[in-house]
Amino acid sequence: MSAARQKGSWLGLVPTMGAFHPGHMSLVAAAASQCDVVAVSIFVNPLQFSSAADLARYPANLERDLAMAQTAGVGIVFAPSVSEMYPRGEPETRVQPGPLADRLEGASRPGHFAGVATVVTKLLSVSGRCRAFFGEKDFQQLVIVRRLVADLDLDTEVVACPTVREPDGLACSSRNRRLGPEDRRAAAVLFRALEAGRDAVVRDGRQAEDVEATMARVVAAEPRARLDYGVVVDPVTFASPALLAGELRLLIAARVGPVRLIDNLGVGA
Ligand code: PAJ
Repeated sequence: MSAARQKGSWLGLVPTMGAFHPGHMSLVAAAASQCDVVAVSIFVNPLQFSSAADLARYPANLERDLAMAQTAGVGIVFAPSVSEMYPRGEPETRVQPGPLADRLEGASRPGHFAGVATVVTKLLSVSGRCRAFFGEKDFQQLVIVRRLVADLDLDTEVVACPTVREPDGLACSSRNRRLGPEDRRAAAVLFRALEAGRDAVVRDGRQAEDVEATMARVVAAEPRARLDYGVVVDPVTFASPALLAGELRLLIAARVGPVRLIDNLGVGA
C-alpha cells in the first residue's frame, strides 16, 4: 500500500466484513471521490462476535464482493484469513475502548467493541496515513473509532458516511437477508420509530423521556418487533440530554423475528 501513497496522494480505506450491499458501496464511492486509491478490507473478525453461532451465520461471498469491488474501481482488496490477521492466535494485546463500549450495543454484545477496536487499530496501523470511511449506520462504532484514532494518535482521517436505506426506510444491512417476507415488511418499523422520535423533538420540543416513549410506542404497535432500546443521546458523549437542543442522535435496536436490527437518526443543528 505504500506505493499507493505517493507524496500528496490519498489512500482511502474502507474496512468491511464483506457480503457487500449498497451501504458498503456508498463508502467505496465516497472514498473514490475523495482519494486517489481505494483499498477495501474484507475480514469477518472473530474477536467481535460473542457467539460461535453468530460468527458461523455471518454471510460470505468473496467472489461476488471482488467483482463488485472491481466494478466500483477499488484498487486494492485486502481479504486476509484469520491466521493471516492473527498469526499468533488470539492477540494478547487488545484495544479496550472507553465506557461507551459497555452501553447500548456493548451492553447486549459484551466484548464486541473491544474486538472492533482491536481489528480497526490493526487495519489502520498497517495502512499508515489514510482516510478511513465508516458508515453512520453503526453510529456507536463510528464514535468509538473516532475516539480511538484520537487517543492512539493514529495517522487517519475518519470520514463518516450517511446511512443508505431501502425505499421503505429500512437501513441496508447484511442481516436483512435473514428476514422472511413478513419480518422484512415489519422491519421498517425501526425507521418509522426514529422518524416519530425526530418529530417529537422538532415539533413538540419534549423531554428525552417523552421522545423515547414515542419511539417505544411505535415499535410496540408492530407485533413482530421487540424493542431492545430506543434512546435520544448527545452524539459525542452519548449522555442523555437535559435539554432537547442542539445536535442529538436517536438510536434504536429491536429484534424482528429472529434478527436483531439497529438504526439511528440525527436531529438538530
Ligand atoms: P460491516 O458491517 O461490513 O460494515 C462495514 C462498513 O459499512 C461500516 O463502516 C458500516 O457502518 C458501513 N455500513 C453498513 N451498513 C451501512 C448502510 N446501510 N449505510 C451506510 N454504511 C453502512 O462494521 C463492520 O463491518 C465491522 O465492525 C468493521 C468496522 C469492518 C470491523 O470489523
